[in-house]
Amino acid sequence: MKTTKDFQQMKIGNEPIVMVTAYDYPAGKLAEQAGIDLLLVGDSLGMVALGYESTVNVTLEDMILHTKAVRRGAKDTFVVTDMPFMTYHSSASETLHHAKRLVQEGGAHAVKVEGSGNVVDMIKHLTGAGVPVVGHLGLTPQSVGVLGGYKVQCKTEEEANQLIEDAKAVEKAGAFAVVLECVPWQLAEAVTEQLSIPTIGIGAGPKTDGQVLVYHDLIDYGVERVAKFVKQYAHISDDIVTGLKTYVADVKQRAFPQPEHSFNTTLFNSQVR
Ligand code: KIV
Ligand code: NA
Repeated sequence: MKTTKDFQQMKIGNEPIVMVTAYDYPAGKLAEQAGIDLLLVGDSLGMVALGYESTVNVTLEDMILHTKAVRRGAKDTFVVTDMPFMTYHSSASETLHHAKRLVQEGGAHAVKVEGSGNVVDMIKHLTGAGVPVVGHLGLTPQSVGVLGGYKVQCKTEEEANQLIEDAKAVEKAGAFAVVLECVPWQLAEAVTEQLSIPTIGIGAGPKTDGQVLVYHDLIDYGVERVAKFVKQYAHISDDIVTGLKTYVADVKQRAFPQPEHSFNTTLFNSQVR
């Protein structure tokens, strides 16, 4: 299993870091089989797997349950779990308690937290207590209400400079990596050059140290429309619907099950006779 040290080395060696989200046992298993470097049990699960409008509905219990499932599937892959909405803001002790549950009960190897400001202090507390932390800057979906929608962030020079400062603060607080979401690629490049920890981009262009995508987006699995920054490498919704439609038709026409799908008991047959 790769660890925080390896991700650091990958940045130094200029080897791209590949991350994908996973929310359940099969996704964990298949992602590990595919050679993914590290997994994110993202709170995007609230939207893509649970059908909520945003990530703010996701609870700590949800994250624990899904982290456990992912870990059972991906036994040899580093797993980062999102701390959900408002579970790392009110106090250091509450933040530590919630992270402890994600690690001890869920089996997370690290946690991810969104934002800067007070959150930087929480990163310090978490890493001080031995919990590896990934930061998350730029578009921070848990703050969608404050941001006023899912839009590209940091388009002015002032906002761009602020992001660079925030990223440095996150690094200084002890984070081992930082996700940059939906920022101009030139800014992501600047942050990547100025930090010694790896940057992992989503909608942040090609210059970050790594990339992350949402599992369901990248394989086109039950998603309606995806953002401009997503590339779809498979279209499994089509396969699933085709398979399910064929099953419906077969059962309706009594074409399924066939003898090869049925059990044959000679004892039972002889008894009937
Ligand atoms: O929850 C999530 O999927 C994320 C990624 C978009 C980075 O936080
Ligand atoms: Na997230």
